[in-house]
Amino acid sequence: MSVMNIERARENVQKVGFLDVDIDPALDLFEEINRLKKEKNAVILAHYYQEPDIQDVADFIGDSLGLAQQAEKTKADIIVFAGVHFMAETAKILNPGKKVLLPDLKAGCSLSDSAPPDLFKKFKDEHPDHIVISYINCSAGIKALTDIICTSTNAKPIVDSLPQDQKIIFAPDRNLGAYINKMSGRKMVLWNGSCMVHEMFSRERITKLKVRYPEAKVIAHPECEETILEMADFIGSTTQLLKFTQKDEAKEFIVATEMGILYQMEKRSPEKVFIPAPPENSCACNNCPHMKLNTLEKLYLCLEYELPEITMEEELRVAALRPIRRMLEMSAQLGL
Ligand code: 13P
Ligand code: SF4
Repeated sequence: MSVMNIERARENVQKVGFLDVDIDPALDLFEEINRLKKEKNAVILAHYYQEPDIQDVADFIGDSLGLAQQAEKTKADIIVFAGVHFMAETAKILNPGKKVLLPDLKAGCSLSDSAPPDLFKKFKDEHPDHIVISYINCSAGIKALTDIICTSTNAKPIVDSLPQDQKIIFAPDRNLGAYINKMSGRKMVLWNGSCMVHEMFSRERITKLKVRYPEAKVIAHPECEETILEMADFIGSTTQLLKFTQKDEAKEFIVATEMGILYQMEKRSPEKVFIPAPPENSCACNNCPHMKLNTLEKLYLCLEYELPEITMEEELRVAALRPIRRMLEMSAQLGL
């Protein structure tokens, strides 16, 4: 691209969040993406909630913890993060010297948005004797106000490793926080945030499904509300749910999380049946509108033009790095 075109591309990204450029429909995007990855020494990290084509072209597919661990150890020069903004931001915090790209800058997260740093700072100041544990689904601004980051894979073991009388603020997900409180007998103070996808599931519609599939096991992500978690035979992060479906003897599963994960479940256990847990509305699918902003076309363009790129002020990055490092160290100690 000429200098002039790069400037135009940057303006384009500022306006719409991604490169809005026409692609030759005859182009084999899988081949092109694989070629660009090799040429540029780039790695594609994708969350399980991404569309199947993106999962197929990724170098690593995982949950939030797995992706952060991969971002920490990658030797690539460019990280293309097929996920949402806070995930790519975490990769940048861990890799200030690398280029971190996100196919669509507008791929946000309702949970992360539910905790604006200025309001959270006031909340924290009201609890001066508490430490802060934040779920990784939060902005760099919240991470900078946090003592330990966690994900749904390691949240409970991290909390369990702290003294029972340690006062804790847990942010931003009230459902995950309430679940840990219940399981560990703690009274963590919870920030009132939630995920728009995991709050949608309908207890009534899941009950009807259970009548239709009496042998099916209900599996749920801990971001779901308590009324849904109460119905679950197994609760876990996306990686834990996937592993459960592979090793459990059940043949049918009602899955209460974002439906992108069903692709890997079906791929790894083709003989089993996976039914998305129905939401409150008339729709039968549970897509995260933020995750699904990324497409194979945007991924290709982002790798080709190296835009949109994640950038961050160094002071904020350094402050946000401390609690992420703490999580990665604690996870390694806990064997996670
Ligand atoms: P995990 O990746 O920890 O399972 O969390 C799911 C999620 O909602 C990510 O946005
Ligand atoms: Fe955020 Fe929920 Fe989407 Fe995950 S599924 S990115 S928590 S809105």
